[in-house]
Amino acid sequence: MILVTGVSGALGGLIFEGLAELEGLEVVAGTRTGDGSAARRIDFDDPETLAEGLRDVDTLVFISAGYAEDDIVIARHDAVAEAATAAGVRHVIYTSLAGSGDLMTIALPHRWTEARLAAAPFDVTVLRNGLYTEIVLGLATEAAASAATTGVFAAALGSGRVSVVDRRDLADVAVRVAAETERDLISGHRSRHAGRAYELEGLVAIGGTEIAEALTQALGRKVGYRSLSLSETRAALAAGGGLEPYQVTHTLSLFSNAKAGVLEAHHTDLIELLPTTPRPAHDLLVTTLRARAGMP
Ligand SMILES: NC(=O)c1ccc[n+]([C@@H]2O[C@H](COP(=O)([O-])OP(=O)(O)OC[C@H]3O[C@@H](n4cnc5c(N)ncnc54)[C@H](OP(=O)(O)O)[C@@H]3O)[C@@H](O)[C@H]2O)c1
Repeated sequence: MILVTGVSGALGGLIFEGLAELEGLEVVAGTRTGDGSAARRIDFDDPETLAEGLRDVDTLVFISAGYAEDDIVIARHDAVAEAATAAGVRHVIYTSLAGSGDLMTIALPHRWTEARLAAAPFDVTVLRNGLYTEIVLGLATEAAASAATTGVFAAALGSGRVSVVDRRDLADVAVRVAAETERDLISGHRSRHAGRAYELEGLVAIGGTEIAEALTQALGRKVGYRSLSLSETRAALAAGGGLEPYQVTHTLSLFSNAKAGVLEAHHTDLIELLPTTPRPAHDLLVTTLRARAGMP
């Protein structure tokens, strides 16, 4: 049996839907709000739900639960490793962070979790997910109204570019790896993916110039790019409110890494594992921005 955690989230939901469509696999949903009927209750902050929720699970698709301070995320992920061991889970597939993100603040709990899982008795596959295209889309969307007025897109990206990947592509890879793992286990073998860490970086890198070009296409007016300093961005984040303090840390770290030019990937396993061609980031950017601007 496969269990997918976090099915009410965007990635977990896509992975669960993809697996549920496949023939011959028993797939169970896990979520914090599960009541045992449509979905099992799986709350990493409540280890009792894990003891019950992981019963009879062979393949666990473990979606990281990263929205919290590091000590909380680490405690959550430790609880999952502990409970999976106790429940006799045979294979854990963990959604981690791609290598290009190694110097970002969000990398710490991911690398900690990878090491914790590697020391556990079950087999592990690490899906080192690249940064979602939605991250640059979020930057572009937030800036669209001001860009429409001023003709300028401003962000602390310098000349750095970020390799981004469509979340749906990451879900497709996870579905394939989980299905092949479960089928290998059913036929009495170790998964062909056991002990592997796959770098799922995007093939396309997007920076300030590319975002300004997408805004130009979506808004129907020329938009130029201006790089901001990190201190300007820190001040704007502090003044804007709306973010938890740890989110300010992680957001600044993203800009800092982008500006330093280290978020552009040089290697990816995406093509090897994705059943189709990667979804183009530029298309998602322009079509979403156009729809939000009310343009055809
Ligand atoms: N690669 C990237 O660019 C990127 C960007 C943002 C986040 N991430 C990481 O990737 C994960 C999945 O991304 P997403 O787009 O699906 O995020 P999302 O839509 O915001 O979903 C958040 C996920 O966290 C789960 N979660 C939160 N607290 C939990 C807890 N205490 N116990 C169990 N599950 C918990 C939620 O599960 P339920 O609500 O179903 O319980 C949900 O699946 C995120 O949680 C984050 O760690 C990656």
